[in-house]
Amino acid sequence: MKKVLVTGGLGFIGSHTVVELQNEGFEVVIIDNLSNSKIEVLDKITSITGVKPSYFNIDLRDKAAVKDFFANNKVDGTIHFAAYKAVGESVQKPLDYYENNIGSLVYILQELKANSLNNFIFSSSCTVYGQADELPITENAPIKPAESPYGNTKQIGEEIIKDATKISDLKAIALRYFNPIGAHESAKIGELPIGVPQNLIPYVVQTAAGIREELSVFGSDYNTPDGTAVRDYIHVVDIAKAHIVALKRLIENKNKSNFEIFNLGTGQGNSVLEVIKSFEKVTGQKVNYKLVDRREGDVTAAYADTNYANNELGWKTKLSLDEALLSAWKWQKTL
Ligand code: UFG
Repeated sequence: MKKVLVTGGLGFIGSHTVVELQNEGFEVVIIDNLSNSKIEVLDKITSITGVKPSYFNIDLRDKAAVKDFFANNKVDGTIHFAAYKAVGESVQKPLDYYENNIGSLVYILQELKANSLNNFIFSSSCTVYGQADELPITENAPIKPAESPYGNTKQIGEEIIKDATKISDLKAIALRYFNPIGAHESAKIGELPIGVPQNLIPYVVQTAAGIREELSVFGSDYNTPDGTAVRDYIHVVDIAKAHIVALKRLIENKNKSNFEIFNLGTGQGNSVLEVIKSFEKVTGQKVNYKLVDRREGDVTAAYADTNYANNELGWKTKLSLDEALLSAWKWQKTL
């Protein structure tokens, strides 16, 4: 049985990936410091798959602890989700973001090298493209100057990994996520935003649930068909499955180079108003909203060109926007 480390394995995308890994017969070890997740998720994962993953409460900024972990755990692969991810907060706390997202990454890569552990998957983001000049966005689209320290940690992270692959046997894949949404069909795991949600879908579901009075739609004067911004919303379970495909590619030495990049999106762009309408249609719930000014740092439109991931990685999304929105609503109702 292959053993896989999932950092941030109790978080939103991490927990869904742990479930898919276990379904595929991998033995999973989770590292999570619970900074943006809850320990209960471990039991929820166990109740979905019937297998309890090993769990370590390690802060990856603790270099000695990271060293100790890898010295004692010979993993066949590492999937690294653990990171801060709030764009706005990163502007207020840039050094915390660099310390956590970059410091931890460097420590992990050092220990992978020291222990000759070679397969590494990195959570990157379509934020590296900024407002791309051409849509849909291919992996070859130029990297734009980061709009936030958060975005910068993803750009720098990719560079660091690429450099690391040049001086060791490390093989790595960076997966650039578009907008992950939704929840597991069991409604046992999903997104757990702390405080007021910053992202669209958590805000929509909380508004429908009556927790928030009204959704603010940020910007209605964009150069898009209905004036609201367009994104590529992808079901988190599809995202999770891509990690298993990517990991197997590395374990089976099917990678074409030691540092590869793939977009993870559906290829379809939807506006904020389209998302609201779809949500109302599939759930029968009304979402109160008002049109307000644009949010600083937002791009007009971003959606993936999925050809490279479809053809080279051999992965494709299976779940629709409607399914994702319905699953997010089912999850919200359990909270
Ligand atoms: N939006 C609203 N109202 C809200 C929240 C969001 O109208 O209350 C709009 C945004 O303005 C944007 C769209 O909904 O047009 C999506 O916003 P999200 O915050 O859900 O997602 P973003 O596309 O802004 O951000 C996501 C990830 C980031 C990543 C970024 C890259 O959350 O981690 O994509 O583009 F950096």
